[in-house]
Amino acid sequence: MKKPAHSIRDAARLSGVEESRIRFIERMFPENFPDTARGYAPRDLDRLREIDALIRQHGNNLSAVRADLRGRHPAAGRAPRVITVTSGKGGVGKTTVALNLSLAFARRGVRTLLFDADLGLANVHVLAGLSPRQTIVELLQGQATMDELIHEAPGGLKVICGGSGIGGLADLKMEFVRYLGREIRRMAETADLVVIDTAAGLTASVLHFISLADDVVVVATPNLASTLDAYSLIKVAQQERVPGRIRLLVNHAADEAQAAHVRDKILACARKFLAFEPEPLGFITRDPLIELSTQRREPYLLAHPDTDNADRFLLAADLLRAATPDPAAAAPALAAP
Ligand SMILES: Nc1ncnc2c1ncn2[C@@H]1O[C@H](COP(=O)(O)OP(=O)(O)OP(=O)(O)O)[C@@H](O)[C@H]1O
Ligand SMILES: [Mg+2]
Repeated sequence: MKKPAHSIRDAARLSGVEESRIRFIERMFPENFPDTARGYAPRDLDRLREIDALIRQHGNNLSAVRADLRGRHPAAGRAPRVITVTSGKGGVGKTTVALNLSLAFARRGVRTLLFDADLGLANVHVLAGLSPRQTIVELLQGQATMDELIHEAPGGLKVICGGSGIGGLADLKMEFVRYLGREIRRMAETADLVVIDTAAGLTASVLHFISLADDVVVVATPNLASTLDAYSLIKVAQQERVPGRIRLLVNHAADEAQAAHVRDKILACARKFLAFEPEPLGFITRDPLIELSTQRREPYLLAHPDTDNADRFLLAADLLRAATPDPAAAAPALAAP
């Protein structure tokens, strides 16, 4: 017999969890609700109640809730860790960092998927040296499934490519963006880690990809506008109470001293005005070989594995890996409705 599927209103009535709270829970824990687009089954109502209680129990600390859920439902609650790479200003090296960080994780044996969420000017495939057959454009047009989008890339990496140069893709409906987010959280079969490369600026879709993340890597450069924009982004992320840890990576530094100066400036502002400090992930210097790798479409970490900057990408990945996936104590609390 087919199980009854309830509307969200009925689900709220039957579970005792408010509608707005249900939406919030589904947004934050989509891997627990694979099929609610067609209605809420009794199993979903149980899971809603359970997560609602856990959120209260853990004082809104979603990382702790996730850890608890993973223990209780190893299969259902399994979601890959998500790292979103972003910046205030454009052109600061987000895609370069996302690709090389992903390769550093893959080098460390982590099953890693790089997701190009720059929906306007997607170019991960260019830097990764791929000519994808299927991209998010084909997904959007209903000509490909999510699984068909996964491409094998050099370095043991898997990549989901965006489609470049397609007008209108930049301002995609939030409904589709949310669908992408849910699919990313369900990638556990394919990857233990998903790295998301975003577009510059704080659009609603970028904020959504930030809010999905366990870690948000903010890329800043010594350029004054970039430094200020990085701070503004961190501020908005704080105001929005995104659940992930905020990390800072300085790119395009002339040397270590300049990187430290940029880092300290941003940390000091965050400490003073936000009473919070992003966690530093180190720096990458301005390096003609990085630019050359882009031009040649050869990922830097693969073409130049024995360089200081390759070591720095590995170090940043190790710092991210070192943080336990669910540092209940360290994660900022999120105000649940
Ligand atoms: N450390 C570096 N040294 C030299 N060149 C770099 C460095 N980091 C990035 N670049 C170069 O800067 C250019 C922009 O980098 P990238 O595409 O990664 O930036 P982005 O932030 O993703 O840009 P967008 O905002 O358009 O998405 C590329 O040509 C890249 O090779
Ligand atoms: Mg980019």
